[in-house]
Amino acid sequence: MTEPRRIVVGVSGGIAAYKACHLVRDLKEAGDDVRVVPTPNALTFVGAATFEALSGHPVSTTVFDAVDEVQHVRIGQEADAVVIAPATADVIARLVAGRADDLLTATVLVATCPVIVVPAMHTEMWHNAATRANVATLRDRGVIVMEPAHGRLTGKDTGPGRLPEPEQIADLVRVVLDGHELVPDWAGKKVLITAGGTQEALDPVRFLGNRSSGRQGYALAEIAAHRGAEVTIVAGATDDLPVPSGAEIHRVTSTREMAGAVEKHAPEADVIIMAAAVADFRPVSAAGSKLKKGADEDALMRVELVENPDILATTVERRRNGEVPAETVIVGFAAETGDADTTALEYAQAKLARKGCDLIMANEVGEGKVFGEDRNRGWLLAADGAVTEVADGSKHAVAAQILDAVDAFRARD
Ligand code: CTP
Repeated sequence: MTEPRRIVVGVSGGIAAYKACHLVRDLKEAGDDVRVVPTPNALTFVGAATFEALSGHPVSTTVFDAVDEVQHVRIGQEADAVVIAPATADVIARLVAGRADDLLTATVLVATCPVIVVPAMHTEMWHNAATRANVATLRDRGVIVMEPAHGRLTGKDTGPGRLPEPEQIADLVRVVLDGHELVPDWAGKKVLITAGGTQEALDPVRFLGNRSSGRQGYALAEIAAHRGAEVTIVAGATDDLPVPSGAEIHRVTSTREMAGAVEKHAPEADVIIMAAAVADFRPVSAAGSKLKKGADEDALMRVELVENPDILATTVERRRNGEVPAETVIVGFAAETGDADTTALEYAQAKLARKGCDLIMANEVGEGKVFGEDRNRGWLLAADGAVTEVADGSKHAVAAQILDAVDAFRARD
């Protein structure tokens, strides 16, 4: 059993403070040691007793508690990661100024471990020049500042400023604890990601589809956004997942719609990652009204199919023709099952050669593996024959390794 990692969850005084309770629970359930350090204002939203019960540690807000244990220094020194969620505009400003006027800011000032700031505030405050400058300063200093989610805020307004969902924050914390630095070294890069599964209509209520959840594609989008990239997702059907903060999303249903969206965005992309599970065939025609068991027996018993475009192979072809820049790195996925003669890895190697992309993330599917699961594993295959094993990890951890592989692939050129 590995040692629990020590995570400090800082909570500042915004309405989203209640979501910190879910974050603490999520991190604790994964076996980590969590200590909550709220600001005094945070306790006007959530009581200390709640944080104490969830974390199993006493809670204080001031540097004058537990002075004999030098608490204001010790908590920061011992932490493996500090995450502040929600971080108000005020606490962000105090971090920039290097203040230590409560236990949370004192803890951050002492911490040498990764610090993750998860802002939550009204859109106007997020866009304010003071906040923009403060966030830029924190990022320059190596602090990881998550992009807020876009959506309903307190009151009637909608916009960027919402706290990302606790599971997204916990996933990010774990990626950082696993040693991925998430520095904004992909700033200025455009990344196009396909995610989820495409669906082909048989009639207005029935379709041919697959079990893809979209989790791996969304995790890739989140990690790329944290590394500073401008991310566009083309998403088919997905589980009900929070939209990755900092990414632009285009929803599509069919393979041809996905192909159209990729065709549009590919020429600007520096990196294209096709994590979607694409329906290879579609019914020759979709009925305009619901097919009936009696009257349409024939159409229901024998569905005639035609082949869909291969989006990945077409994109590689367009790069060959100069319609997509030659420097664009193209990454595919291969979800395979092995059989008596051929292993899943061999099928994936053949797929890499056939599709002509630069890298392929191969994994074995079936028997509860991968689709809809929180974890993934497999191999990263490069066009030059290199095979790197991707250890079992969360889809975010796998995403981080895929982006590292893209860097390694570029460095080889
Ligand atoms: N893909 C695509 N367009 C398709 C089918 C697949 O872009 N019409 C992409 C997927 O997004 C993935 C890769 O190609 O990145 C491999 O997908 P997969 O379904 O495993 O490949 P297929 O070509 O369908 O191979 P097969 O079904 O024969 O295993």
